[in-house]
Parts: sequence; structure tokens; C-alpha cells
Amino acid sequence: MSEPPFRTVIEPFRIHSVEPMVMTTAEQRREAVRAAGFNLFQLPAQEVLIDLLTDSGTGAMSRDQWAAIQHGDESYAGSPSFFIFRDAVRDLFPFEHVIPTHQGRAAEKILFTVLGGPGKVVPNNTHFDTTRANVEFTGAEALDLVIAEAHDARSEHPFKGNMDIAALERLLQERGDDVPCVMVTVTNNSGGGQPVSLENLRAVRATCDAFGKLLFLDACRFAENAWFIRSREPGHGERDVADIVRELASLADGMTMSAKKDPLGNIGGWLALDDDELALHCRNLLILTEGFPTYGGLAGRDLEALAQGLREAVDHDYLRYRIRSTGYLGDALAQAGIPVVRPIGGHAVYIDARALLSHLDPLEYPGQALAIALYETGGVRSCEIGTVMFGRRPDGSERAAAMDLVRLAIPRRTYTQSHIDYVIEVCERVAARAGDLPGYRIVSEPPVLRHFTAEFEPVG
Ligand code: F0G
Repeated sequence: MSEPPFRTVIEPFRIHSVEPMVMTTAEQRREAVRAAGFNLFQLPAQEVLIDLLTDSGTGAMSRDQWAAIQHGDESYAGSPSFFIFRDAVRDLFPFEHVIPTHQGRAAEKILFTVLGGPGKVVPNNTHFDTTRANVEFTGAEALDLVIAEAHDARSEHPFKGNMDIAALERLLQERGDDVPCVMVTVTNNSGGGQPVSLENLRAVRATCDAFGKLLFLDACRFAENAWFIRSREPGHGERDVADIVRELASLADGMTMSAKKDPLGNIGGWLALDDDELALHCRNLLILTEGFPTYGGLAGRDLEALAQGLREAVDHDYLRYRIRSTGYLGDALAQAGIPVVRPIGGHAVYIDARALLSHLDPLEYPGQALAIALYETGGVRSCEIGTVMFGRRPDGSERAAAMDLVRLAIPRRTYTQSHIDYVIEVCERVAARAGDLPGYRIVSEPPVLRHFTAEFEPVG
């Protein structure tokens, strides 16, 4: 008989090199956030105690990744580091062409420069903001076709990242000629870090086949998605995660990747695909902006670190810890009565700020108000994903976003359970006086992507 698992989420690593955190007082933080125009993107990072702004590029590299950095070969053309990188990518994603880029959006820019254009429409479960922006920049339309459950924060559907297959079929029937490719984002970041099931991806593949369409994965969080498949989708509980990842890849014609997420890099990305002619176009564009095809936007040492990171990303002990530790935060908040998007996603916990700060109108930015309070109270930096981010429409008018969320994104292998316990305490303290938090108004904003630079002031 096996014993029950321990309650503590033990980190499957020891600390090898430490980075000091700067302790600040609440008074200092109130001053800092005021000086930053109440915009957390404008804060100097030293003013932040626990930085949950993003899980992108903020993870800790391993001893073996730092060792791999020493192995980097900086030859302009044909560096052996490229081939080590390419083979590590292909071990999980066996595409013919692997094109390194400096990060995910560079891969998107190249792909949609070739495939996009006015009159085209690109469906996705939910486009991440840079994917949407890169599609729209070409004049094409970016369409989100995620299942309806994704819009219900309380739905416990195990694969809320799934594509609405009937809606995809309808689109392909009505506007098939305008669709250059179908994309699926794993996990669905903008929808709460929710996974896509293998069954759903197989159905997307079948639909693409029926209409002769290319299928691309936006695969940033492929390992977390594969872990969810292993733990939630019937019939996969005994499988090796790497094997599940290979099956995900086998269903697609190509992928874009931000290696700043699951591949455990601080920088990097790639575009991979099978089609020779498309790859030729993409490589030509790569040379214009990123670099020669054997390094793309990266140094040889980065390519080596990513090759090693990819091997670590599919380690079961790591993934078990990763998903459990994110769940640990989410479950603790839920237990404290703080409304969070269910089920808890892979890389982040999303607080439903509209529900928690129900005294505020969405146009008083409850997500922004909550994020500022978390920072002032405990030095925790999070990210508003709501009306500040999505409320401004192309015609200049403003309306409430579908949800007002605050994302607590968890950098990989960076914070310990006691850091997270502290975050939980900060959230509880803020939630206890949520009804007193002021709303905000925007004092100045740029024409696009306003959340990065807008300045705010408290209402009243
Ligand atoms: N696709 C998804 C699903 C992402 O989450 C991101 C980045 C990108 C593409 C773009 O990759 O940053 O390397 O250019 N997401 C980060 C975040 C920024 O905070 O969620 P990139």
C-alpha cells in the first residue's frame, strides 16, 4: 500500500545562487506607485518585492542551463549551438524547419507577414495580445473561437482552452477562402491559462483537413498543457509528458513559440513548420529583422540554454511541482473567499476583480484598483487583464471588457512556498477591505496598448 502524498509542495530543487530582494515599507510603495502614475508597468523593478507581473522570461535557469551557456558557440553561420538547439526542439516538435527568433512575437510577425493581409481572418481559441496585434497589423482579422465555458469564471470544465469546433466549421464554410491558417494557443493564456485537450486538438485537425487548412500551435506553455492532459484527460494518466507533447505537435503543421515560458529561457523563441515554400519565405524575412537562420535573434549561448531548458521542461517532478504550486496559491485564495477563475490554470492565478470590488463600475477599473492595492499593501506586482487592457475600441470609444481580472503569474522555479504564503496573506488583507478601495480614472493614454504607459489617478 502506498502512503498518501505529503501536503507540502516541495520544490524539486535546492537554491544554488541567491538574488536579494529589496524590502520596502508601505509608505515607500505608496510614493513609488504615485510616482509611476499608478501604472505598475512603470515601476522600477527594485521597488517590487514579489514580482508576479508575468511568467515570461522571469524564471530561474538551472545549474545545467548555466553550464550550457559556457558551451555556446558564437559563430555567425552554422554554429554547433544551433544544431543542438534544433535537435532539442525537434525531439519534442519534429517539424522539418526550425527558425530561431529573439522571442515569440518575432515568430508571429514573420508568420503573419507571410500569411496575413487585408480580407483574411485568422481564428484561434483566444489570440494572445501580440498575436492579435501581429494579425491585425497586416490588415487581417483576429477571431477568438474558444468554447463558451471559457467565459464563465466559475465553470469547472477541465479544458476551458478548447476551440469551439462548430464555430470553426461555420467560419470555414462561410469564409474558408479568407482563412490562411488556424491557430490554437496552448495553454490559453488570455482565457486564464486553461488547457486544450488532445481530443479537441484532434477535432481541430480533422476540421482543418476537411477544409485544407494549415494548423499552427502557439505553444508557449506546451508542457503545462501536456501535464493537464496527463492528469485530466481519460486514457493519458500513465503517459510520458514528452510523448504527449510529440502527439500535440504531430497534429499541427507548425508552431510559434516564446521560449521565455515553458522552455525555461530568459529570452528566445522560434517558428517551426513543415512546408518548404512557406519556410523559405519566413527565413527570408528572418534575415531582414532577426538574423541569419542559424541564430535568428539569439546568441549561441542562448540557443544552448534553451536546448537544456527544453529537456527540463518535460520533467515530471518539475511539472508536478509547477502545477501544484500554482494550484496551491489559487486554492488558498478561493478558500479565503476571494473569487478566482476556476479551475486554476498552469502559469497563473486570475482574481475576479469585478466580483471582489463589486462597488466599482468596470470603467473605474476594478482590476487596476486591486493590482495597485496588492502592490501598496505588500509589494506584490500583478497585472490587470480587463478594461484597462481591452476597453478602448478602435473607434475611440470605451466599454467594459468581458471580465476584469488580475493575473498573478508565477515565474518558474523562482519563488518558494513561503513567498507564496506571503502573497496569500497580502491578498487576504486587501480582500478584507476590498469595499473601501477607490476606483481609478485615466489621466493620459497612448493611442494603442494603453495599459503599458497610461497614467491614472484615484477617483474621489
Ligand atoms: N503567445 C502567448 C500565448 C503568450 O503568452 C505570449 C507572451 C506570446 C505569445 C508572445 O511571446 O513575449 O516572447 O514575444 N506572453 C507574456 C505574458 C508576455 O505575460 O503573458 P513573447
